Amino acid sequence: MSTNSIDSLLHEDRHFPPSADFAANSVASASLYTDAKADRLAFWADRAREYVHWHKPFTEVLDWSNAPFAKWFADGELNVAYNCLDRHVEAGIGDRVAIHWEGENGDAVSLTYAQLTAEVKRAANAIAALGIGKGDRVAIYMPVVPEAVIAMLAVARLGAVHSVVFGGFSAESLRSRIDDAEAKLVITADGGWRKGKVFPLKSAVDAALANGTSTVSSVLVVKRGGNDVEWVDGRDLWWHDAVEAAEPEHVAQAFEAENPLFILYTSGTTGKPKGILHTSGGYLTQVAFTHKNVFDLHPETDVFWCTADVGWITGHSYVVYGPLANGATQLLYEGTPDTPHPGRWWELIEKYKVSIFYTAPTAIRSFMKLGRQIPQGFDLSSLRLLGSVGEPINPEAWIWYREVIGANVAPIVDTWWQTETGAIMISALPGLTTLKPGAAQTPIPGIRIDILGEDGTRVDPPQGGLLVVSEPWPSMLRGIWGDPDRYVDTYWSKFSKPEEGVYKYFAGDGAHVDTDGDIVLLGRVDDVMNVSGHRLSTQEIESALVSHHMVAEAAVVGAADEQTGQAVVAFVILKANQTDAQTADEASTMLRSHVASAIGAIARPRQIFIVAELPKTRSGKIMRRLLQDVAEGRPIGDTTTLADASVMQIIGDKLK
Ligand code: WTA
Repeated sequence: MSTNSIDSLLHEDRHFPPSADFAANSVASASLYTDAKADRLAFWADRAREYVHWHKPFTEVLDWSNAPFAKWFADGELNVAYNCLDRHVEAGIGDRVAIHWEGENGDAVSLTYAQLTAEVKRAANAIAALGIGKGDRVAIYMPVVPEAVIAMLAVARLGAVHSVVFGGFSAESLRSRIDDAEAKLVITADGGWRKGKVFPLKSAVDAALANGTSTVSSVLVVKRGGNDVEWVDGRDLWWHDAVEAAEPEHVAQAFEAENPLFILYTSGTTGKPKGILHTSGGYLTQVAFTHKNVFDLHPETDVFWCTADVGWITGHSYVVYGPLANGATQLLYEGTPDTPHPGRWWELIEKYKVSIFYTAPTAIRSFMKLGRQIPQGFDLSSLRLLGSVGEPINPEAWIWYREVIGANVAPIVDTWWQTETGAIMISALPGLTTLKPGAAQTPIPGIRIDILGEDGTRVDPPQGGLLVVSEPWPSMLRGIWGDPDRYVDTYWSKFSKPEEGVYKYFAGDGAHVDTDGDIVLLGRVDDVMNVSGHRLSTQEIESALVSHHMVAEAAVVGAADEQTGQAVVAFVILKANQTDAQTADEASTMLRSHVASAIGAIARPRQIFIVAELPKTRSGKIMRRLLQDVAEGRPIGDTTTLADASVMQIIGDKLK
């Protein structure tokens, strides 16, 4: 229950109705709610026809006969890339800018829909020439450059499946994702810009493929960082050579609505990341619909900016597929918010006249810390709508965001969703909803959310409970790659009653409904941490720690952190005979970098405590709750179920 305190939210009485102006020009109309309520499936079928071009129209909306494995619009056919590109050119808006890209080092380029379409066609031909076709998996490991978007769309155009791996992940993490999906091709770059320096990517790909058993036969390399790279002849190809040599024309073929579009790995409660599988027609329908209505997109005039990296679901749905399906103009930025100066983001908003801005609470909190004079040094008057995603936004940050960035007028949409849900599930619609700080508020039309107690019955407001999605939705995950049992166990076993035909999706989040009937999210209820809006698994980090030869045992908790929401804190027992580290400090420094190189810098623990014992129950389960008390500097809670109650005393004394 990280940043939101239930108490303060129960008493939240600041309300912000939409201005008359905003309401008058609102994309979303109240009929969306009534239509969805009247006939949910007909509502989604209408959205699918409104937002997607179907090469072959569907006649069936939802097939739930094999629940919890869903099929949406199954007999329809479409091409996702065609929907994001060619159809806009054919509709006469080819000259509209699709992407304004700005590199961290100041490089910049703008691509119109016509140019982007031409680039994707060539890239699709180049990728097809490497033997990639329908159903083949392609790993993409890139900085945020236009080629990352082009590569995703080119793969989609061929009916192949992309698996984008965030460029901050280690070679080891990349290797496990390539192997799990049995990718045939990797698309990467020599390096990218981050914090004023070039970080290498190609070398990590080389390391990931080094064992020689990989399924990968080709590596396409975009030149971006200009750093030196090693080359494997016969396997490696420069992107620019391959794309320049490719034919310019490529006719998009139609694929069935359930053709897989991408796999995206995310952390779960066990050590092994889950390959979340998304398909085409339903996914595109819901991302396009939500992008247009939640962000009140007026594509002729708006400039949209979602700050997420394309390596996360937010980048997939609200950098690539949502905005491009809607013919939006957007900004794509490669680097960090504070390079080369702490006002970089605000400078970009001024330069490109960004009107819709979508970012994470952790970023907002770090700007708050720097002070309002930094954003106030720029002209942010183009902004008319703000969004938040990734973790609960505390009311204080919400108010600051509205006042300082939104000039006290811009509505804020707090959007709750997950890698698994594919698209936004809970959010205000800005022209309709009276907004309230700290609450995601309302399921979007066509989505059914309930909050249940452990026994599966609905809790009465304002009691807290577990958030479930009670009806299937178009952009829902279709499974976990290669592991159907894990899909059923993780999401559909806790509250479903298959014998009664009842299926409820368990999201892993706590929530409550406040006295106004608004949904307030309270954070994860499982062993998934949320650090700066990134999902990390306690077990994955524990496995990384125990893989180090000095470590006997490790326990990881997510401790509340003012800026990052949660922070990784580890408790480690060293092996008795280890001699590598002379002091606890030394050991903890070594282990922190070990975790960063095993998983990626985002997983580096904020603190590692070297301890002699871990608190365990009589059955041997580590009591993370007690460690969390220590990590958050609270008095230690109830220790009566510990096998040895003195352990916490010893840990507490040692850390004092
Ligand atoms: C959390 C990111 C509160 C939540 C799109 C969820 C949020 C996890 C919000 C998914 C929000 C995301 N309010 N919590 N507006 N948005 N979360 O898969 O715990 O990276 O389960 O997807 O982030 O993280 P993921």
